Amino acid sequence: MKAIAVTPRQKDSMAVIDVPEPQIGVGDVLVKVARVGICGTDVELKAGDYGEAPVGSSHLVIGHESFGQVAQTGSEVEGIAVGDYVVASVRRPCPHDRCLPCRSGQNDMCITGDYTERGIKGQHGYLSEYYVERQEWLTVIPAEIAETGIFLEPMSVVEKAIRQTKKIQERLPWKFQNAVVLGGGTIGLLGAMLLRLEGIDTHVLDHSAMGGFKAQLIAQIGAHHVDTREKSLTDVADMVGPADLVMEATGYAPLALEASRLLALDGVMCLLGVSGGGHQVSMDATEFNNSLVLGNRLIFGSVNANVVDFKSGAGHIQDIIQRWPGALESMITRRVGMTEFERAFDRGPGDIKTVIEMEP
Ligand code: BGC
Repeated sequence: MKAIAVTPRQKDSMAVIDVPEPQIGVGDVLVKVARVGICGTDVELKAGDYGEAPVGSSHLVIGHESFGQVAQTGSEVEGIAVGDYVVASVRRPCPHDRCLPCRSGQNDMCITGDYTERGIKGQHGYLSEYYVERQEWLTVIPAEIAETGIFLEPMSVVEKAIRQTKKIQERLPWKFQNAVVLGGGTIGLLGAMLLRLEGIDTHVLDHSAMGGFKAQLIAQIGAHHVDTREKSLTDVADMVGPADLVMEATGYAPLALEASRLLALDGVMCLLGVSGGGHQVSMDATEFNNSLVLGNRLIFGSVNANVVDFKSGAGHIQDIIQRWPGALESMITRRVGMTEFERAFDRGPGDIKTVIEMEP
């Protein structure tokens, strides 16, 4: 069968290759892939900046934002049937006894770093005609959200970020009222949608024109769009006031540091973007330190997601589809076939989510 793979750490090695059809064991599920979303991590894999092949393989099949349909189940699989729509999670636990998170089902919080991630680190991904996975790593989704199923993996990342934020804020009596989201890419927009579902007053900062497609989408979900080419962070601070949550989804590290000054007293900033480029900044370290200490402010990073986040994400995708019809669908701005995968990496300024469609 066909798959898209890279030779990790080798620039522009991405190609369509032939791989053996996967075989299922008694506890496994065979999934026919319908489409796979492409994100910044895939761009890094293509550039040779990131990624690790499975032990014994020189290539890595990419793809971690999956959506497909169950084609076959092993004899011991229960509660999941041929024809079900499924999305697979990405990270798998490390093997070490001392890793309490991995040993207790929280492999997204692995403390050893020896976890694997399908399509990214040490395990083949889902960008192939079929894949095999154990039932425990699959989330069955209802038919109503099948068209937008590829958003469940990035949604799970945002679900975790907000779940963690709320858990952290149990440190005080806290009324969550407003948020600033940095970046109007997939993660930023999904984050804004989740926040708006909860009625949080949300500003989305993005390099995009007022009145343009993204601004309209942001208005549709009842959030405020700020064009960062027109407004500085100081303008934003004046407009928005102190923010309970700042969610950083640009991956531009200098902005992440600077935006911490948008935080309210006791506020939390969650970093979700992975940076490249080795940016150096010069900053007033005293002011930064004192702002955190004297304001009980907190900055934390969050990566990947737990199975619970996939479950809650599936429910929230349904809510989003009902509340803002067409909004999620409109975020798929480019669809390409497997053989023209190069075009999936050819991002234009208006692109949000590109998907690679498999042959029916
Ligand atoms: C994926 C996560 C993964 C992270 C780091 C992201 O693109 O969505 O599941 O943990 O990359 O590899």
